[in-house]
Amino acid sequence: MTKLVIGNWKMNGRLAKNAALLSELLADPACDAVNVAVAVPAAYLGQVGALLAGRNMGLAAQDVSHFANDGAFTGETSAAMLADVGCRYVLVGHSERRQYFAESAATLTKKLLCCYDAGMLPVYCVGESLADRQAGHPVETVLAQLDEVADALSGRESVLVAYEPVWAIGTGQVATVAQMAEMHEAIRRKLFDIVGGSCNITLLYGGSVKADNVVEIFTLPQVDGALVGGAFLDPLQCKNICHAAAE
Ligand code: PGA
Repeated sequence: MTKLVIGNWKMNGRLAKNAALLSELLADPACDAVNVAVAVPAAYLGQVGALLAGRNMGLAAQDVSHFANDGAFTGETSAAMLADVGCRYVLVGHSERRQYFAESAATLTKKLLCCYDAGMLPVYCVGESLADRQAGHPVETVLAQLDEVADALSGRESVLVAYEPVWAIGTGQVATVAQMAEMHEAIRRKLFDIVGGSCNITLLYGGSVKADNVVEIFTLPQVDGALVGGAFLDPLQCKNICHAAAE
């Protein structure tokens, strides 16, 4: 089954580099596909949006303002603006935002609501820290992160969640398939409770996904795709990951 792949450039990119990377990826039908999207820095949404016009690959944002309406909020980017420039997805609650910007459950709930109201699908990111895992309660931690935003998710037609153990992000230390399967099953059960059985639930794994581990990850029926960071800045890895997703 085809898997969804979202590449997260994080705070990386320059005009020339972005254009070169995308021209290489867009030449490969496995990358220029509806199941692939790139989450780029706000500064480059216009550039990348133009490069993706008429293509299958989707545009995504890495963050969104929690203020619903445009106005006097210097530095903020509203969900309506992101939809206006063609974003299909928006990352919400990435662990780097939780860590460096102390995003609270109330803020994340507002961000999710703003994305849905603007017609985009938020990618709600959850994941336990190493301390949570070592203390023996990784599942409880992640399920609490879903409970905290239940108001924004309940009743939706589609929900997209990325499970990203914090200790696996950017470390090269990928979760085991057993850990992924256990967590994804628990997340899916919790989402059934929150949103109901008729909701279209998509669950991504993220955290050190690379060309050399993605095939094994994608064998898991519990995993519907991947949120990829560092490897998505390397065209060769990107292509391999997109090919694995297409199989
Ligand atoms: P990584 O990042 O693939 O570099 O570990 C994943 C993410 O932060 O989404």
